[in-house]
Amino acid sequence: MKLAKVLMCWCVCMGLLQADEPSSASARAASAADRYETRRIHDPNGIGKFYMGREIAHVMGFAGAAWLERSTREEEERLTLLIRSLRLKPGDVVADIGAGSGVISILMAEPVLPGGKVLAVDVQQEMLDRLKKYCQNLGVENVEPIKGSQKRSGLKPASVDLAIMVDVYHEFEYPYEMLQDISQALKPGGRLVFVEYRKEDPAVPIKEVHKMTQAQVRQEAEQPEFGLSWLETVHVLPLQHVVIFQKQPQPVAGQ
Ligand SMILES: C[S@@+](CC[C@H](N)C(=O)[O-])C[C@H]1O[C@@H](n2cnc3c(N)ncnc32)[C@H](O)[C@@H]1O
Repeated sequence: MKLAKVLMCWCVCMGLLQADEPSSASARAASAADRYETRRIHDPNGIGKFYMGREIAHVMGFAGAAWLERSTREEEERLTLLIRSLRLKPGDVVADIGAGSGVISILMAEPVLPGGKVLAVDVQQEMLDRLKKYCQNLGVENVEPIKGSQKRSGLKPASVDLAIMVDVYHEFEYPYEMLQDISQALKPGGRLVFVEYRKEDPAVPIKEVHKMTQAQVRQEAEQPEFGLSWLETVHVLPLQHVVIFQKQPQPVAGQ
């Protein structure tokens, strides 16, 4: 019996037999492919790709920049209340993921001074160019544009105190990969903020695939590998919820 076992091990080592367990690389690749589902029949405002039962929305194109900057936005979304609820402080490094033309980045630039900065990440170069001009016109010097990709933010590991996504997460083509990347960019104890239109409320006048329930946000963000724990949900905005997670602090040495 013992001899048979040794022989089997030898065969597997020599590549003469296939081990039962797939290699961890192929197992990882398989689970990444299984993560998303494509459906033929779907909402016309979505891309037909589903993640954890939710259809992913189309990315807002550069043509939508003027809508982001509309003069009625403060009245409709109360952005100043949102920024106040973040409790930013001088010296903070903040990432505005899906910054668009920079409306939110610019609002966060002042509260992190002196010493702090806003890293404005977007996948569309036209948005980042517009954001740069917007900052120049206003004399804002602590906003740094970063060109990200569909799967990577371009942020350095453990470099950010707070990352925020305002009306963005629901349109990530690869939400799992983006959350993995963003959670790695947070410092231990750093915060990740989702601002999404409330799907729980049918009176919120936004297309269905552009809304998310708080339960859906939590289900997607609280996967153990991200190391994120729900901290609080702030209910100060008329149309959106502000769902905040915290990156687990590093374990204390010796524990
Ligand atoms: C609806 S706009 C919101 C812009 C901004 N947050 C605001 O509220 O004014 C969504 C933005 O997210 C960007 N976006 C989509 N997927 C992205 C990704 N994977 N990484 C970074 N930005 C992304 C889009 O290019 C677009 O500019």
